[in-house]
Amino acid sequence: MGRLDILRYPDPRLHTVARPVAEIDERIRRLVDDLLETMYEAEGVGLAATQVDVHERVIVIDVSDAHDGAVVLINPVLVETSEEMTLGDEGCLSVPEIYDKVLRHARVRVRAADRSGQTREFEAEGLLSVAVQHEMDHLLGKVFVEYLSPLKRSRIRKRMLKKTRDEVRA
Ligand code: NI
Repeated sequence: MGRLDILRYPDPRLHTVARPVAEIDERIRRLVDDLLETMYEAEGVGLAATQVDVHERVIVIDVSDAHDGAVVLINPVLVETSEEMTLGDEGCLSVPEIYDKVLRHARVRVRAADRSGQTREFEAEGLLSVAVQHEMDHLLGKVFVEYLSPLKRSRIRKRMLKKTRDEVRA
C-alpha cells in the first residue's frame, strides 16, 4: 500500500470515533508501516489512523529530528494526566499551514500496545506529551481547531475549502 491519502479538515470523516483494534495482526502492522511512511513523507510529527480514513485506535508519532524515534500506540489509554497545563503552538497534517495555541496537560502517562502487540506504559512530556494528546483526540473524532474560537474555526474552514477547490482546479 505505502503512502496513504490524508483527509483534510473539514472532511466529516475526521469526526468518526475509532474502534479498538481487536487483534494486532499483519493487517495492523501494515497499517502502522503505512502510517509511518505517510507521516515522514508529509513531514509531520504524528498521524492517527482516523486521518487516513481507517477508524481503529492506531497512532504513530515521531518527535525526533532524525526520524529515528518512532512511537507506535495501539489502543492507547491515558493512565494519568498532570494538573499542570502547557500552552503551545499546534499544527496538523489534516489542517495544513494552520498553527495555533492549544492548552494541554504538561505531562501524561500512557498505556498502549506497540507494533509487536506488547503493552507498554510510559511517561511523556514536552512535545511528545502534546503529540500524544493531539493524536488521541483524532481517535475520538476531534481536530485541534475545535479548541479555537468559533470565529477562528470558521475562517480556517473557509480557507481549507478554498485551498482544496484551488487544488482541484489546478
Ligand atoms: Ni492532527
